[in-house]
Amino acid sequence: MLAGMISLFAGGCSDFDASFSISDKTRSLAPEAQNGIGDAAPGVIPLTEQKFGTPQSLNAWLKLPVNWGGTSVAVVSVSAESSSVVVEPAAEDASLPDQVASLLTADGKLVAVESWNAETGEAVLAASDVEFAAGQTCTLDAGSVLQSGRVSYMRHCSHCHGTAGDGNGPTAQYLNPRPRDYRHGVFKFTSTNDLSRASRDDLTRILRYGIPGTYMPSFLLMEDEEMHAIIEYVRFLAMRGEFERKLVVELSADYSSDAMTSRIEGGETRDEIIAELTEFLTQDMADSVELAGDDLKEIWEGADSDEAKVVPEVPRVPDSPESRRLGRELYLSKTLNCADCHGIDGAGNGPQTMAFEKNPITNELYEEAGLHDVWDNLNQPRNLQSGIFRGGRRPIDIFCRIYSGIKGSRMPSFKNTPHEDIWHIVNYVLSVPFESEPGASGELASTAEAGAAEAGD
Ligand code: HEC
Ligand code: HEC
Repeated sequence: MLAGMISLFAGGCSDFDASFSISDKTRSLAPEAQNGIGDAAPGVIPLTEQKFGTPQSLNAWLKLPVNWGGTSVAVVSVSAESSSVVVEPAAEDASLPDQVASLLTADGKLVAVESWNAETGEAVLAASDVEFAAGQTCTLDAGSVLQSGRVSYMRHCSHCHGTAGDGNGPTAQYLNPRPRDYRHGVFKFTSTNDLSRASRDDLTRILRYGIPGTYMPSFLLMEDEEMHAIIEYVRFLAMRGEFERKLVVELSADYSSDAMTSRIEGGETRDEIIAELTEFLTQDMADSVELAGDDLKEIWEGADSDEAKVVPEVPRVPDSPESRRLGRELYLSKTLNCADCHGIDGAGNGPQTMAFEKNPITNELYEEAGLHDVWDNLNQPRNLQSGIFRGGRRPIDIFCRIYSGIKGSRMPSFKNTPHEDIWHIVNYVLSVPFESEPGASGELASTAEAGAAEAGD
């Protein structure tokens, strides 16, 4: 047992993939960097498995800001030789669970519980060399939330999002847009600023309401408890993917298959390079692993902080023909140039959709014209006439989309635009579906409802 880690055994379930898929980035490394060189010099794949486990046997890296679950308790008394302990809930209003299988100490040691009395709080412990003392805090059944999140995720989400959250479940190939690949840690529709990850509230809203206009369904009827557990599991999968990518970044400059080939062409021998890699993996990699963990802790905790949340400096500017006109002017302006992507009438067909782009990794032109997102998929600017807003249609949702951009997509952030101006643009954008003649300000429908009635006949 590594300090600060616990293993959560899932038991045999035949519908699970045996392992989490390995990213293409990892596959671009030399095999020795992927797999390591012996136990003392583990590479990206064994290190990721050490920290996160496999779908059947997850590991909880306690440093990470995941709500792993379990009941926090304080030890009241300890029997001779620590063969049993009596515990009470650490929080005043909490109660003890009916069943308990394990107990985790504050310094990360996991002890199996052989029998449990929910009335008295007495846990008979399996033999171990862990010593207990009255007053110390422990967690009963640590990891229970993650475990149940995983079970629900496999039932409701994995056929689209894949076992590893790589967006590549069996149904995925038929869908456009593709299910999100969580492994970048990038989520599109957030209430956070352009540099922050998604908050738990953002993920909850996505699950409750789905993403209109895509195959992402709404789980409105799901119980809160199940939803919370799934969200922790999605965050866990995102952190796992990001961790793997971070390790690849450490190694790719010197030890990708391509880098090795050119080093060998440059006169080094393969043996020399492998000796250097062995030294790096043995001596430096452990620090990189901890730093990657610290980094993930900071950014994912940050996403739930007040500082990350987008808060308009001025209240919404009331909708009016004048505000919409100002909004349209800004939309067409040279500085913001929304029309370059969305088109002058908002149909999603601006000049940028007709240009051929280069794939930033292979440096080759994409086969199809148009913008591409960080997942390498074609990324069409939204047709604003459709009135379908994937991230929600409340004015504040549209404000966030413009202020922070849509992360991972080609919709940029306009965070330097005065907030009052953003509100004018929001008013304009919300009016586009109802305009008979886009931009003919004299003929703007006076209310959205009137426009909707018109569109209905
Ligand atoms: C039928 C396929 C399907 C199922 C089932 C499904 N999703 Fe999705 N999901 C999608 C698609 C497609 C997208 C991408 C939409 C887009 O890019 O606009 C998506 C996007 C997401 C996002 C990204 C939101 C963002 O802001 O970027 C999250 C989170 C998510 N799904 C979670 C889940 C969870 C959790 C479940 C199970 C409870 C689930 N999905 C089930 C298809 C699915
Ligand atoms: C460089 C191209 C580009 C520019 C410039 C651009 N957008 Fe976008 N926009 C996109 C793309 C691409 C999407 C679709 C992103 C996705 O869902 O993956 C999008 C989506 C949107 C959406 C849909 C949000 C939702 O919830 O569905 C709105 C609204 C929007 N853009 C408004 C604007 C406004 C207003 C401006 C100018 C202030 C602007 N865009 C500038 C590319 C652009």
